[in-house]
Amino acid sequence: MKKIYVGMSADLVHPGHMNILKVAAQLGNVTVGLLTDKAIASYKRLPYMTYEQRKAVIENIKGVVEVIPQETLDYRPNLEKLKPDIVVHGDDWKEGVQAKTRQQVIDTLEQWGGKLVEPSYTDGISSTALNKSLRELGTTPDIRRNRLRRLIDSKPIVRIMEAHNALSGLIVENSKATNGNEYDGMWSSSLTDSTSKGKPDIEAVDVSTRITTINEIFEVTTKPMIYDADTGGIAEHFAFTVRTLERTGISAVIIEDKTGLKKNSLFGNDVAQTQDTIENFCQKIQMGKRAQITDEFMIIARIESLILEKGMEDAISRAKAYIQAGADGIMIHSRQKTPDEILEFCKILRVFNENIPIVVVPTSFNQITAQELSAAGINIVIYANHMLRAAYPGMKHVALSILEHDRSFEAEKSLLSINEILDLIPGTK
Ligand code: SPV
Ligand code: MG
Repeated sequence: MKKIYVGMSADLVHPGHMNILKVAAQLGNVTVGLLTDKAIASYKRLPYMTYEQRKAVIENIKGVVEVIPQETLDYRPNLEKLKPDIVVHGDDWKEGVQAKTRQQVIDTLEQWGGKLVEPSYTDGISSTALNKSLRELGTTPDIRRNRLRRLIDSKPIVRIMEAHNALSGLIVENSKATNGNEYDGMWSSSLTDSTSKGKPDIEAVDVSTRITTINEIFEVTTKPMIYDADTGGIAEHFAFTVRTLERTGISAVIIEDKTGLKKNSLFGNDVAQTQDTIENFCQKIQMGKRAQITDEFMIIARIESLILEKGMEDAISRAKAYIQAGADGIMIHSRQKTPDEILEFCKILRVFNENIPIVVVPTSFNQITAQELSAAGINIVIYANHMLRAAYPGMKHVALSILEHDRSFEAEKSLLSINEILDLIPGTK
């Protein structure tokens, strides 16, 4: 029997996949190289199903003898290990981004006289089209909640953008750069949620009101969310908040180690702010962890030592204590113009803990790229207030322009056209 190799993602299995596997099985013993979440996330959206779920589907398809992980988009490592006689792939990869991978497969197979068989692509169905309709169908709280941990495991860095209403959520959901970058999820910011309600960022907007906004965002998006719970309130109340957030489908909560009347961190010591004791804050983390129902929900501890100028040593000893108390991640905050102190913190933290997810919010040290943060061992970057800060100047300018000119004609060039609004919102037309 000949050795046949088929590489696939197999997230949404459709007749196209079945055709490839049928052709492959007619040629010999089929090994499927199933792309790992990491391999897929390196070039497109994380698959809906986990590797284990996709494996369970593929290994039960007739003719498939074995399923092994393909850790990279590049077929060569697996081909060199297996030395298959034949690789089977749909002929849709002759042009476009995959053309290079295809040539590498041909060149590698040539080393031992193997060949490539390319059944014609099954028309009328594609994973891309299925993905699009799935997105339109939406998601469930369970699927959304679990995605964040998978993203952290699969991507060099997880990019999170603030959303304070459904419209800004849609922008986060749908923005895709020409380099392929997109946002992996949303941040429910205490600052922007309060500000958009005309209130100061002092924990004055209650959890129920925050959740109402989030439900509106969740109605029209599928990406995961991290919730800014300020101090988390008193520990006994935080336990209830954790359950509310989990039930809603939020993936993680960040609580900051301050106490009393909380003020926004970007004020630093310009306003009176009190840091909680390590002991109290650890107890709050523990109560939250005990209240949690699902395995995937994350409680991330935010350290304010650098904001409050308590020094690096204080920040590090708090990180150690909070991890020990059960925190699933550490957010380190700074309001310096350069990332130096954040990078130093990460370097020290990584010496004694290689894996705990690190979160940063580069509002003031905004020159560093996400890629550079990733290289420093940071797992999640949050752009914490940018959608709100972008929207407000536009509104203010137009409000004034209409008063100045006593008509809206001059403001028109600054506005979205009515047609663009119709395109923006799915289901308007
Ligand atoms: C927020 O977005 O509300 C935050 C981040 O907590 S910061 O404003 O930088 O404190
Ligand atoms: Mg906040």
